Amino acid sequence: MNAIETEKLGKEYRIGFWRKRICVLSQLDLTVHEGEVFGYLGPNGAGKTTTLKLLTGLLRPTSGKAKVLGRPPGDVVMQQQVGFLPEQPSFYEYLTGRELLNFYGQLVGLDRPTRREQIEGLARQLRIESALDLQLRKYSKGMLQRLGLAQALLNDPRLVLLDEPMSGLDPIGRWEVRDLLLRLKSEGRTVFFSSHIIPDVEMVCDRVGILVGGRLVAQGPIDDILGAQIASIEVTASQVPPEVMAELGYLLVTQSVPRGERLLLTVKDEAALAELLTRLLDCKATIHAIAPHRESLEEYFIRYVQPRETP
Ligand SMILES: Nc1ncnc2c1ncn2[C@@H]1O[C@H](COP(=O)(O)OP(=O)(O)O)[C@@H](O)[C@H]1O
Ligand SMILES: [Mg+2]
Repeated sequence: MNAIETEKLGKEYRIGFWRKRICVLSQLDLTVHEGEVFGYLGPNGAGKTTTLKLLTGLLRPTSGKAKVLGRPPGDVVMQQQVGFLPEQPSFYEYLTGRELLNFYGQLVGLDRPTRREQIEGLARQLRIESALDLQLRKYSKGMLQRLGLAQALLNDPRLVLLDEPMSGLDPIGRWEVRDLLLRLKSEGRTVFFSSHIIPDVEMVCDRVGILVGGRLVAQGPIDDILGAQIASIEVTASQVPPEVMAELGYLLVTQSVPRGERLLLTVKDEAALAELLTRLLDCKATIHAIAPHRESLEEYFIRYVQPRETP
């Protein structure tokens, strides 16, 4: 069984006096396998939050259907096994962290000893132990995000749905959340999280889905999406005579970039590399490094997203 499966899932909103229809999610076929970390990547406004709301049953689809842990979204049995971190959790700020978690623990039906154990354990894992008895208005953005994560994990969920869990965190906080996601996976849970921050997704995900303008433009392991193709090859060299450099210009993808004493030369393929190396050796230049450069998720993303966003 897949953890999440959607079939031609779509959402339209009606806006304004004329109830004009706008489509924010179209024909979404998403598959998330059990036990994997799946990154749902897309620029702002792509429809990520809408998707998560459809999966949790907070919104109803206009078309298509979804199954979460084999059940319809919002189903009681499904909810018992799913943890959810909304995009902007808003908590009553005069509660303490412990009071808030206790309240949620009661909502999901945990008895008092289990609540206590879960709250202590999660607070330790998420490093908010010392803040548990502080009022939420004294929490920093990072601490609130961690408290939100603790809330999402209280019911020991099989599937965790997180909407932008790294947003608003500093680099250390983001690193900690990435670490947490991997730990959840090692405990056998499935993690589905949305993000618009590419490196966060690239580092921890088994598979990713890329959503642009309400459409899933790619889905699969990052390596498959990017292909194993080499986009370019970088050669670091020094002591290249300027007249040779001028002659070699036509081989290079970009201009040569000085790096201190050295030059960074980028060629497009192996044929160009062979020619460049021959010429460099002929003129007794020193070659320090040759590095193949694969397209990154970031380059892919920008290539895909930009032409569509600029009308
Ligand atoms: N209640 C609503 N009514 C009309 N449009 C909405 C509503 N909620 C979201 N949208 C629009 O749907 C699109 C997708 O939003 P969202 O799912 O929040 O994207 P993301 O989370 O990827 O940034 C956006 O263009 C947003 O303005
Ligand atoms: Mg969002």
